[in-house]
Amino acid sequence: MEATTRQEYITCSGLYKIYKAAGLEVVALRGLELTVYDGEIIAIVGASGSGKSTLLNILAGYDSPSAGTARVGEYDLLHMTNKEVVNYRRHEVGFIWQETSRNLFPYLTSAENVELPMVLTGVSQTARTERAQELLEIVGLGHRLGHKPEQLSGGEQQRVAIAVSLANQPPLLLADEPTGELDDLTGQEILDLFNEVNQQLGTTIVIVTHDPAVATSVGRAITIRDGKTSTETTRTISFQRRVGGSASDTEEFLIVDSTGAVQIPREMLDQLDINRRVRVGVDEGKVTLESGE
Ligand SMILES: Nc1ncnc2c1ncn2[C@@H]1O[C@H](COP(=O)(O)OP(=O)(O)OP(=O)(O)O)[C@@H](O)[C@H]1O
Ligand SMILES: [Mg+2]
Repeated sequence: MEATTRQEYITCSGLYKIYKAAGLEVVALRGLELTVYDGEIIAIVGASGSGKSTLLNILAGYDSPSAGTARVGEYDLLHMTNKEVVNYRRHEVGFIWQETSRNLFPYLTSAENVELPMVLTGVSQTARTERAQELLEIVGLGHRLGHKPEQLSGGEQQRVAIAVSLANQPPLLLADEPTGELDDLTGQEILDLFNEVNQQLGTTIVIVTHDPAVATSVGRAITIRDGKTSTETTRTISFQRRVGGSASDTEEFLIVDSTGAVQIPREMLDQLDINRRVRVGVDEGKVTLESGE
């Protein structure tokens, strides 16, 4: 199914996040635009400090935006009561951190770690045990139910973390650099698992990374630069070809923000000697830009 025919699930428009630290203001997000469709798996790619974690923390309900629009499903992230925030975090989103150790309690087994979020939502013991086993089987760790994190490899710990994040069947999974501490092969296996979860359970998944290679493992990759989404790369491949991360046809687009602005790549501006202003025209259905200096 084409993404454009799907229902919008995440909508961010003109999104701002301003941090105030030691009397200084840091604009971490500046008019960010993002649309994610129900059931999609996408990557947000950007350099260190570009605002990736800021965006993900807002989508996770850990932090609140300063201005703009941010909606996820039925939730308006700019106007949530405390009770809505608690509900949102418990039922709408699962979160996976880069640091494998941050995702799991070291003194609990894999099964107990997966059961814990269900204790908080009042699921019965029998249902918890059953679901924990089922989820650990989905992530390929049905044979490691009784192992504690230190008895698991880094990749296995991230698999348990994915099972934990899915415990309360959230429609949205957010992962901040989930493969950052893993070697390339293990990292690819984790990305394949995200694709499988997306296909099997229909979970919408947003993966944040500084590694452009991750973009080849998902349907759509969006680049974030200086707190703003700037380009979008769309692939035209099937799930079977996506698993394994094979290269394929891609198309790159610039993102038009809510004010009509686009970020033109620096190389193009330099090539055309465009500095402070441009002359804009329409020529046979195409918009043209030429230096106005
Ligand atoms: N709590 C905070 N207080 C003040 N400034 C912050 C805070 N959190 C982030 N920032 C600033 O906001 C900007 C974006 O940070 P963010 O953590 O979102 O970047 P990132 O893209 O996740 O980078 P990385 O790849 O290094 O994790 C940075 O300039 C950072 O210094
Ligand atoms: Mg970060």
